[in-house]
Amino acid sequence: MNIITVSTQPFNDQKPGTSGLRKRVPVFQQRNYLENFVQSIFDSLDGYEGQTLVVGGDGRYYNRTAIQVILKMAAANGFGKVLVGQGGILSTPAASCVIRKYNAFGGIILSASHNPGGPDADFGIKYNIGNGGPAPEKVTDAIYDRTLTIEGYKIVEATDLDLDQLGTSTLGSMTVEVIDSVTDYAELMQSLFDFEAIKALLTSNDFKMCMDSLHAVTGPYAKTILEGMLSAPVGTVVNGVPLEDFGGGHPDPNLVYAHDLVELMFGDNAPAFGAASDGDGDRNMILGSNFFVTPSDSLAVIVANANLVKGCKGGIAGVARSMPTSEAVDRVAEKMGIDCYETPTGWKFFGNLMDAGKVTLCGEESFGTGSNHVREKDGLWAVFFWLNILAVRKQSVEEIVKEHWSIYGRNYYSRHDYEGVESDRADKLITELRAKLASLKGQKFGNYEVDYADDFSYTDPIDGSISQKQGVRIGFTDGSRIVFRLSGTGTSGATLRVYLESYEPDSSKQNLDPQVALGELINIADEIAQIKALTGFDVPTVIT
Ligand code: G1P
Ligand code: ZN
Repeated sequence: MNIITVSTQPFNDQKPGTSGLRKRVPVFQQRNYLENFVQSIFDSLDGYEGQTLVVGGDGRYYNRTAIQVILKMAAANGFGKVLVGQGGILSTPAASCVIRKYNAFGGIILSASHNPGGPDADFGIKYNIGNGGPAPEKVTDAIYDRTLTIEGYKIVEATDLDLDQLGTSTLGSMTVEVIDSVTDYAELMQSLFDFEAIKALLTSNDFKMCMDSLHAVTGPYAKTILEGMLSAPVGTVVNGVPLEDFGGGHPDPNLVYAHDLVELMFGDNAPAFGAASDGDGDRNMILGSNFFVTPSDSLAVIVANANLVKGCKGGIAGVARSMPTSEAVDRVAEKMGIDCYETPTGWKFFGNLMDAGKVTLCGEESFGTGSNHVREKDGLWAVFFWLNILAVRKQSVEEIVKEHWSIYGRNYYSRHDYEGVESDRADKLITELRAKLASLKGQKFGNYEVDYADDFSYTDPIDGSISQKQGVRIGFTDGSRIVFRLSGTGTSGATLRVYLESYEPDSSKQNLDPQVALGELINIADEIAQIKALTGFDVPTVIT
């Protein structure tokens, strides 16, 4: 088989963001655009010759096309074997699971996560290292540097492979194995949770659940595990067929985009448990009957109840949360006497802590929760964790969360997103905010006094690498916080995220609407950052 080297020219916009390179499909369709990035990944790695690469994606538009290119380039560059999910499908946590299980050198995941899909919507590509987790910054920086100087890429001349047929074939001297997308992941879940107890719950007459896969990648996983292995009634999983455009929806499991599920769960005769996952299956939203569990609270409840779950029986080494995530989990960790790490936004920062055995459970406010079973956040894992808790405790979701608040206090929490802000305006807002930081300490705003104001910087405790400018935080003397940062996953304009948090230890005051409880802080955020004036937006586009 012929290996050819195609000459190319660099693109100057291939800097990976919070989670890989994300662009509109037409950008990826430019001649050599995808190829340049893939070659830059390979050029930044050492010692992969003859090794195994895992490839799969969330099934969105362009997934299959990209996989064919990656297979031919992997063959030309000397990989020994590629494991690819059937039909090109691997959820992000399943890809992480497969990389780890088969000791692969790394993996390439095709996804733009929760962003919409289709010919004019988003596509993405990211590289995961041998531990199954997203490449750390030193790798993504090297990839980016390479994209700026690349002059050629290697590819074999071959016809496309059949991705739908399980089994092994060859491409030049490389083996390609099409694997079942679900099996390895399902086995892992079975090893972590008490499937018998969950099965008893799911088949009992007075328990009903709804899993909304939003026409994204978790459909086949949820159907096989929930409706198959766990015998939940057929129909428990809705929107379970992955579609290239996610049925025209926005595959983001939150109160705004998972509206059908929200309507069901807040309607009459709502099921006891509702959940949704995003495009690539790493996010989750947890709902009880007429009750929404804030992701930060979900993490805290999971940690507090970890002893009920088989996979955590050996105890928890420590926990971690991203900086903007609420401090609810800190309180649980303190009581348990374990360490709680605060990392920058993005899953890649958890990998080192987990590899070093310092952290067992971790999460982010952005509907991401996970553990050291893989090195990605894992939407369905969180669903099974909750089901396991419900099966053992035999209480409702609402009862469990309220009991949690009565023990640890409630961290009122909300995130306000301003999507599609002009980049210049967003940059100006952050620049002006940074300039103010030094003078904020001690200033009073209504009932609140600023305790500290800084731009979060993180020194990785394992490898000493430093990540700066990870979000502006303003902390108040009563423990409340406001955090500002710009999204690193968007594909057009800028998204300003404002994270608001306050703490309420008094049980009789824990039942307010968070927007009410946080009302004064919301106004203070605007006063300090001049959000309305500088963005031109009167209200956030999404509130979670
Ligand atoms: C967002 C979330 C972040 C998450 C990432 C990938 O990134 O805020 O927590 O890790 O998506 O799912 P952002 O757009 O804020 O950079
Ligand atoms: Zn995702």
